[in-house]
Amino acid sequence: MEAEIVTENYAHLSHVITEARKRQAVWDQELERMRQLHFSTLCVHGGYTPAEAIRNNQGSVVEPVYSSTAQAHADSDWLEAALAYQIPAWVYSRIANPTVGYLETVLSLLEGYRLPFQTAACCTSSGMSAIKAATEPFVADRPGNRPKNIVAMVQCYGGTYQQFDVRYGRERGIPIRWVHDATDLDEWNQKIDSDTCFVFGEFPSNPGLAVFDIQRVAELAHGQGVPLIVDSTIATPALCRPLSHGADIVVQSLTKTMTSSGRGIGGALISKNGMTCHAATPEMRDNYAGWVKLWPYRDAGPSLSPESAAHTLDSIKTLRMKMDVLSQNAMHVAQFLEDHPAVESVNYLGLSSHPQHALAKRYMRLVDSEENRYGHLLSFTVKGGANAARKVLDRLELVFRATDLGRIKSVATIPSISTHQQQGEHARLAARIPAALVRLCVGGEDPEDLIADLDRALTTV
Ligand SMILES: Cc1ncc(COP(=O)(O)O)c(C=O)c1O
Repeated sequence: MEAEIVTENYAHLSHVITEARKRQAVWDQELERMRQLHFSTLCVHGGYTPAEAIRNNQGSVVEPVYSSTAQAHADSDWLEAALAYQIPAWVYSRIANPTVGYLETVLSLLEGYRLPFQTAACCTSSGMSAIKAATEPFVADRPGNRPKNIVAMVQCYGGTYQQFDVRYGRERGIPIRWVHDATDLDEWNQKIDSDTCFVFGEFPSNPGLAVFDIQRVAELAHGQGVPLIVDSTIATPALCRPLSHGADIVVQSLTKTMTSSGRGIGGALISKNGMTCHAATPEMRDNYAGWVKLWPYRDAGPSLSPESAAHTLDSIKTLRMKMDVLSQNAMHVAQFLEDHPAVESVNYLGLSSHPQHALAKRYMRLVDSEENRYGHLLSFTVKGGANAARKVLDRLELVFRATDLGRIKSVATIPSISTHQQQGEHARLAARIPAALVRLCVGGEDPEDLIADLDRALTTV
């Protein structure tokens, strides 16, 4: 892949660059101090320190919403230096925005928590655009370098399946090598080769809750010089940080638990500085998320709005405590469902009966504790097939029927008629999504009230 950085002579801007570097050094020092703090503290503060509030934000105690399209500059030298990427600046909100910048800082701190390398983040307008922004540079068709194949687990979110299968596979002719059993390391090994553009997994998957051995799959990918990208929307960094297990890039649909209020659509890619990718330029390897933001993202324009960024920032402040409580609530509900006579099967990684419980136990732990937590997504099948599942869904009174998850409110849907409807019966079978499957994302209500709602809905079937 060729470098995109245009080199000009900026000697006349040296006074601006020197001053901007001094300011950047202060900010870098503050971030370095923040990096030493605990996860909960990082959730609450991110990079928005009291000093940063006073220096740049009139002392506002929370990150202000910069509802502004562009930034004014002191003079033409500052303007030129900013536009030429010679100094950090936000310039124009399609390219960067201070509120979004604060969110990117906290995301890179959380995904990079206690890691011996630096991380960087780039926020996007949705989870799907994060997946696109994370993967597209690897499949770009360059002269003499046709993308050869993509390796991804088939049990992934329906939108991701479509993006790979239709947009990359059918429209661009890139073979997608689907991994049918994500726990089978031989299958990953057989499918990954040095022509693979990237390896992609979801940890855990939506809705099937499939998991895979991140560390071993990263080793297999790296053995061929290929990056591993992990969508860990369902786990959130409070329960699992794939970069710490060898992944190169993490994608998050910020729409979900990261913005549990349900007030915004957003996404992010967070990368390890110094990632593995034999086909990338040194700039890409050094800081992939930063490179994406400066170049392809600027040209494609999938920017996150500052208002949505502020909603996510608000929600992240309580991420760790929320994932603790929501996971415990989900465990109560899963145990209740497992014993219910109208329920055929329950799929929750926290249940010891789950076939991947041991693997999930290795990877999913409440950060800064010894406690395993398995998140708030579960699914179950109802005896009596698809119609019975619809009846249960229709009788719920407290739980919202919606194509949604990650909320502080409990939400349920039937994936085969909603999230995974477009991909058709064949792909649903491959992803193990039967028609009688109900997906439930457990919220922060008292679990007894949820159980009563579910019991009534199941008992009257
Ligand atoms: C695991 C996962 N990844 C990505 C997405 C896409 O996110 P968004 O809806 O924000 O585009 C979803 C949406 O449900 C998801 O569950």
